[in-house]
Amino acid sequence: MLAWEDGYKINHDDMDAQHLILFALLNQLDININSDLAEECVTDVMGALEAYIDYHFAHEEALMQSYGYPGLEGHTALHKEFSREVARLREAAKDGDMLKAALKLRGFVLEWLLGHILEVDAEYSRFIAGKKTKSA
Ligand SMILES: [Fe+2]
Ligand SMILES: [Fe+2]
Repeated sequence: MLAWEDGYKINHDDMDAQHLILFALLNQLDININSDLAEECVTDVMGALEAYIDYHFAHEEALMQSYGYPGLEGHTALHKEFSREVARLREAAKDGDMLKAALKLRGFVLEWLLGHILEVDAEYSRFIAGKKTKSA
C-alpha cells in the first residue's frame, strides 16, 4: 500500500487533491493485481488510471495557462511524453503477461509521478503562489 505523505503536497488544494486521487488509483491497482479477481479488473483500473491522468493533466495545464506560467510549454511536453508511455505500457498489457505488464505500469507511474510532483509541479505552484501574493 502506498501512503500519501504531506511532503508530497505542492500547496495548491485542488491539485493536491487530484494527486491524492492518482495515488488512490495506484493503490486500487495494487489491490487488484494482488487479488484473485479476474484480469479484467486490473485492465479496468489501468484504464481508470490512464483516464484520470489525462483529466489531471488537462486541469493542470489550464491552471498554468490561466496564470500565464512561463514554463507551460515545457511542462505540457513532459505530460505528453508521459501519457504516450502510459498508453504504450497499457497496450503492451493486452498481449503477453498482463499482470507483469500491470506491475510495470504501476512502478513506472509511481516513480514518474513522485519526481514530477516534487520538482516540476512544485515549480508552477510556487509561481502561482507568488502571483497571488503580489495581487493580494
Ligand atoms: Fe504536471
Ligand atoms: Fe500534477
